[in-house]
Amino acid sequence: MPEHRKFEQVTAKAHANIALIKYWGKRDEELFLPMNSSLSVTLDKFYTETSVQFCGKLKKDVFIFNNNIADEAETNKVSNYLNQIRKMAGVERYAMVQSVNHVPTAAGFASSASGYAALASAAVRAIDLDIDQKKLTQVARIGSGSACRSIYGGFVEWTKGDLEDGSDCYARQLENEDYWDLSILAIQLSAEEKSLSSRAGMKLTVDTSPYYELWVKEAGKDLATLKDALRHKDFEQLGQVTESNALKMHATTLGANPPHWYWEPGTISVMNQVRKLRDSGIPAYFTMDAGPNVFVLCQQRDKEVVEQTLLTLKEVQKIYVCQPGPGVSYLAK
Ligand code: ADP
Ligand code: DP6
Repeated sequence: MPEHRKFEQVTAKAHANIALIKYWGKRDEELFLPMNSSLSVTLDKFYTETSVQFCGKLKKDVFIFNNNIADEAETNKVSNYLNQIRKMAGVERYAMVQSVNHVPTAAGFASSASGYAALASAAVRAIDLDIDQKKLTQVARIGSGSACRSIYGGFVEWTKGDLEDGSDCYARQLENEDYWDLSILAIQLSAEEKSLSSRAGMKLTVDTSPYYELWVKEAGKDLATLKDALRHKDFEQLGQVTESNALKMHATTLGANPPHWYWEPGTISVMNQVRKLRDSGIPAYFTMDAGPNVFVLCQQRDKEVVEQTLLTLKEVQKIYVCQPGPGVSYLAK
């Protein structure tokens, strides 16, 4: 082991992101290569802070999650991920990993994105692996696909690539967090863990849904429309294609075998209310990841009225008013 390595503790902070064009389905499960390219906005209110230290004295990896020792399954997940980073760095030491989510876990608020972006960033630095940001997005991707987009702030595209080794599959920032002062309201209907993870849900859909092939085609078209809307700051175009893309993703799960859906009655109530807001002249649009909770996009000037209107729904537990947030940062000790 090279002597100059100090193996200091490193703490990274990464924000979650909401996909406007969804990543839904893998062409390679080992390398987390997606079937379609996707585009997200990083969220200022939801984040994970993770500290990593590789330590010669440890006999195995230790994972402290939200101030508790994580169960075996979660620890193994983290350990398997760190094995890949250890291999890249040629280091065999185990690690002490401490992570706190400032985002509900496994509820459709993208904790896997902030979680693995923070873990990747902290681990790569703690093990002294010298890689650029593009490569860092690829390292985050092999923990959880959507995590590659959380390396950057603002509006981020994850290019699917075509090569088998995944070298042309990476995330890049299209616009930073100051480009467009959109409001993104995260509507909490449930903070419980979903019954089918994103990973399992997308695999079931790829394997069994007759609509899946069409999804891939549509996602490509939707991405081009969304990038055009972003370039021209055309909010209505952005909202329409975001909403339509989410509905198409969720439609693939209805065609799966066994069929599956992530929505709860409250999900539909919020969708209906958003349509009513639009009918009354307030441009607002919804999107949902793999979970019942809804994200509503609107312009800054309308955020109070949208928030107050949605708070009147009995199913709504809480609303987090977000805006585009920053990329990964490192915290001083
Ligand atoms: P979500 O909608 O929250 O992203 P997923 O089912 O896609 O839900 O992913 C949740 C999983 O991501 C968790 O069960 C856990 O395995 C992993 N995860 C979430 N937060 C962290 C974290 N801070 N560190 C490591 N893994 C995490
Ligand atoms: C619906 O990134 O959580 O949120 O790569 O298997 O870890 P894995 O899946 P994950 O899936 C996210 C799916 C989504 C859409 C998106 O974020 O693009």
